[in-house]
Amino acid sequence: MTSAPTHAKGLEGVIAGETEICNVEQSALIYRGYEIADLAENASFEEVAYLLLVGKKPTPEELKVFQSELVSERKIPELVQSFLKQSGDLVNNHAAVPMDILRTAVSMLGHLDAQCQDNSADANLHKSKRLLAKIPTIIGHMQNNIDGRDFVAPTEDLSHSANLLYMMTGEKPSPEAEKVMDVSLVLYAEHDYNASTFTSRVIAGTLSDMHGAVTGAIAALKGPLHGGANEAAMDMLAEIRKDIGPENDNAKILDWMHQAFEDKRKLMGFGHRVYKNGDHRAPILHALGRKAAEARGPEFVRLFELGEEVQRIMETEKNIYPNVDFPCGMTYFTMGIPVPQYTPIFVASRITGWCAHIMEQHANNRLIRPRAAYVGPETRNWNG
Ligand code: SDX
Repeated sequence: MTSAPTHAKGLEGVIAGETEICNVEQSALIYRGYEIADLAENASFEEVAYLLLVGKKPTPEELKVFQSELVSERKIPELVQSFLKQSGDLVNNHAAVPMDILRTAVSMLGHLDAQCQDNSADANLHKSKRLLAKIPTIIGHMQNNIDGRDFVAPTEDLSHSANLLYMMTGEKPSPEAEKVMDVSLVLYAEHDYNASTFTSRVIAGTLSDMHGAVTGAIAALKGPLHGGANEAAMDMLAEIRKDIGPENDNAKILDWMHQAFEDKRKLMGFGHRVYKNGDHRAPILHALGRKAAEARGPEFVRLFELGEEVQRIMETEKNIYPNVDFPCGMTYFTMGIPVPQYTPIFVASRITGWCAHIMEQHANNRLIRPRAAYVGPETRNWNG
């Protein structure tokens, strides 16, 4: 047998295309020329969404128009509402998790969008705005049904982040909670050719439609090696808490970690394919989440202290750093968000990055179709 040509397992280090949208480097994370810490400090999620989708920083007038377009698109069609009235049973009976419900609901939105089959730049931008506006409503209505309450209708007067929190609970969030959510959405919005975005580009590259590409991207994001890690990180901290008891006994945490290393466990919320010295987003979210925990009370500070000890051990013993999903888990828990909605909230943000990439792919398309190195049996006859 001839030996297979060499390949990069998991496409590590492979440059699979060009993009103007985002640059992920060890030294910086840049959205269309703006550094992530600058955006987290100074831009709202709506401004970042406009930057990613339209390609430039909005003027105050452009931002106003964009915001009112989003507000006017928050309601979701009847058919999707009726499906979401089944979501509580599906989730509570363990037939589906919220990411599955969201995936199906987004796919249904395609059937009900008159521009679904139109891949022109203009139609794609309109569809992006509709998806961005409607995904929080899907998440909110789903959570309402899981909790056994009537749907909380979207508001017209709240920001994207505040409206998302409001629809999930029926209570208007504090300005502090709104800010934490908003910054988390800014941090999650875009990250070049990550697995879900690459999925969306592969689908768009066949000249398939935006709703289909986003549906595929949601499926890719769900996995715990990718976006599902924010839920898995919180589940892991809950498991450590159960094993070590209510106090943060550092000796017990160290024993737990050493056992995890011996079992060759993947510690959720740690490591990254690109960042080897730390994820630029993680310390920003950690600081905000910790501040929220300090305001909320000692139980939440104890959670952060546990996370910090786990992080210290990972860094000193394994030289592996937390990614954005690690502080996200602790932060969303502090905000009282149900754990299975953490990854859907990631979708509510990353929809901007996905749509920007789908539009970029459609604007300058070539089918994405790599080769495989064949390592199967040599050619043989069916009849022996
Ligand atoms: C996201 O790509 C993106 O940009 C994604 C993302 C985005 O914004 O889109 O940033 C969002 O998906 C963040 C990642 C969330 N996933 C997790 O937190 C899951 C836990 N992490 C790992 O499984 C892992 O680090 C990955 C999946 C994130 C990256 O995997 P790689 O690049 O294939 O690295 P690897 O699994 O081959 O690990 C290399 C080494 C191994 O050790 P050796 O076999 O060489 O001795 O590092 C070790 C791994 O065992 N390692 C870990 C670890 N991560 C890496 N060991 C324990 N726990 C970990 N989390």
